[in-house]
Amino acid sequence: MKGPRVIASTQASRLIIDYRNATSAAVGEHGVSEAEIDGVADLVAREHARITAEHDAGEQRWQDLPDNTALADEIVAFATEARAKFSDFILIGIGGSSLGAIATISALTHPYRNWLPEERRDGPRIFILDNPDPEKVAATLDTVDLSRTLVNVVSKSGQTAETAANFLVIRDALIKAVGPEKAREQIIATTDPETGILRQLADEEGYRTFPVPQGVDGRQTVLSAVGLIPAALAGIDIHQLLAGAAAMRARTQTGDVRENPAYLLAALSVLADQKHDKSIFVTMPYADALFGISDWFRQLWAESLGKKLSVTGEEVFAGQTPVKALGAIDQHSQIQLYTEGPNDKLIQLIAVGEYRNQVAIPTPPESQPELAYFAGGELGQLLDRERHATAWALTSAGRPNLTITTPVIDAFAVGEFFYLLQLQTVMAGAIYGVNPFGQPGVEAGKNATYALMGRTGYEELKDELLTVPADADSYVNRP
Ligand code: PA5
Repeated sequence: MKGPRVIASTQASRLIIDYRNATSAAVGEHGVSEAEIDGVADLVAREHARITAEHDAGEQRWQDLPDNTALADEIVAFATEARAKFSDFILIGIGGSSLGAIATISALTHPYRNWLPEERRDGPRIFILDNPDPEKVAATLDTVDLSRTLVNVVSKSGQTAETAANFLVIRDALIKAVGPEKAREQIIATTDPETGILRQLADEEGYRTFPVPQGVDGRQTVLSAVGLIPAALAGIDIHQLLAGAAAMRARTQTGDVRENPAYLLAALSVLADQKHDKSIFVTMPYADALFGISDWFRQLWAESLGKKLSVTGEEVFAGQTPVKALGAIDQHSQIQLYTEGPNDKLIQLIAVGEYRNQVAIPTPPESQPELAYFAGGELGQLLDRERHATAWALTSAGRPNLTITTPVIDAFAVGEFFYLLQLQTVMAGAIYGVNPFGQPGVEAGKNATYALMGRTGYEELKDELLTVPADADSYVNRP
């Protein structure tokens, strides 16, 4: 059966997915064929039924986050007061505990927000401490006014080393600056409602807390308090974020791979990998504001699908390497490789119908006839035409690509992206036959860090890590 190549948005959902250039009709043997899509249609329908049944049985709780408008009301009330009170906001969290906030804030606020004068900024300056990088942490402490700083420590597990260390540093600085009583009022914790070290500490010290929903992995929490608090503090309409996600959820209720945009994208990406050796999946928005979404999606795709074992316990080493790129900048960086290097990528472009600002390109001087083509032009038009040109150039070189178009960049659209890409990831896991939840592969590194830092219970591992092989020095080049 041949299906439509363009899925037009329905009802309130507005994203358009154009996958023509990812098909064999456009790029020959490097593209996914209609027969291959048909070939996974039954599997997708069955997996849709399973995911739906799991949701009905109380799992797949991430799907319910768009409904939490009561929490959004509570967060808006909190943020309204906090925005009037604080000049600075420090978010401490890593991975799923910060990437969603970064994506949302970079998509929906002024790119130089922190540099704007207070009256134009609409809320506190925002500083994100994810890496325990001493230079960045010191620079943050050097910049903020601690007497007017709100600190939000975010950790689902409550024991992530980077977050715990950064928090201890900031908490200590805050206590020294304003005293323990005020410090307690300036700290909020977003963590598991019941368990974990951070939960214990928050209860002991009396911090206001917000929940990380149970049964939801960190990388799926962007539409919970984890992502909504920083967004609300930045003045973003968080109800619109939820509404956009809910609209995408409404659009993705069908198990038909050709009708459901998330399932279609999942099928295209996994088929491109499994049948056409496209082991790399590039996300390339043509808008600086959407680059954070590529970064957020990179973690989601990598941690969810990069799995050694299938759901039945066989070694499959599944996954597709996610790469972020930014148009048009990467046309002057990575596109050479994408066009002429190994044909091992599926490239997902993100287009914007109308940018939030129109900047006319002034008429070039007559002495420069080579620039005459800019006359009457506009920057967004140039950027979007570059996107169009790149899609064409990639296709001409036999490089599969697809385009997701959002009519505008607003909170509703960002909510749509979050839901779409999460469901795409869950279905991609189903097609690969792996569990997209959990991240067992990061545990070894985490445990080794605990051991090296001297955490109790990790002594044996520490000995192993610090044992130097007899021939070690012969592999080290020293000046
Ligand atoms: O997706 C995940 O669960 C992880 O990437 C976590 O978000 C990340 O490791 C941070 O964990 P935590 O929120 O427990 O500090």
